[in-house]
Amino acid sequence: MTSPVPGGSEPVRGMSVGAAPAQSEGESFFAAAGGHATFAGIVRRFYDGVREDQVLAPMYPAQDLDGAIERLTLFLEQYWGGPTTYSERRGHPRLRMRHQPFHVNPEARDHWMAHMRAAVEASDMSPLHQATLLDYLERAAHSMINTFEDTPSD
Ligand code: HEM
Repeated sequence: MTSPVPGGSEPVRGMSVGAAPAQSEGESFFAAAGGHATFAGIVRRFYDGVREDQVLAPMYPAQDLDGAIERLTLFLEQYWGGPTTYSERRGHPRLRMRHQPFHVNPEARDHWMAHMRAAVEASDMSPLHQATLLDYLERAAHSMINTFEDTPSD
C-alpha cells in the first residue's frame, strides 16, 4: 500500500493561466469587481494603449482589433467567475500555446503589463480588487514569455 503524499495527492504543477482561481461561496470576483461593464472598460482602455505601442501594435491583427478586444474581455470574465462564453466560442484557453506565434519577450511583457496596469488603475474597481487582478496579470504575463530574443525591428 502506498502512503499518502505529504501535502496532498495532487501532483505539483506549473501555474495554469487558464484555470479558474479558487473561489469562496457566494458572489464571484467577476460580479463583486463590477461585472461586464468594468471588465470591458479595462480591456478597451488597454487596447487604446496597445494601438499606440511600437512593440505591441505590430503583433495584433489591425483588421480585427474589435475581435481581439472581445476575446480578451471574454477570457478575463470567464477566468474570474463570469459567463463561460469564452470557452463556448474558443474552446480551452491554452494561452501559452495561443501566444506561440507572437514574439513575447520580456520587453513585450513589460509593455503589455504597463498598459494593463494603467487600464486597471483607471477603472472603478476597488483597490483590493485591483490589487488581486494585477497580481494575477503580472504572473500570467510573465508566464507568456516565449523568447529572450530582441524585439524584431522592421
Ligand atoms: C505578455 C505579453 C502579451 C502579449 C505580447 C500578448 C499578445 C497577444 C496577441 C498578439 C494576441 C492576438 C490577438 C487576437 O487576435 O486575439 C493575443 C491574444 C490573446 N491574449 Fe495575449 N498577450 C500577452 C499576454 C497575455 C496575458 C497575460 C493574457 C491573459 C491573462 C492574455 C490573454 C490573451 C487572450 C485570451 C487572447 C485571445 C486568445 C484566443 O482566443 O485566440 N495575453 N495576445
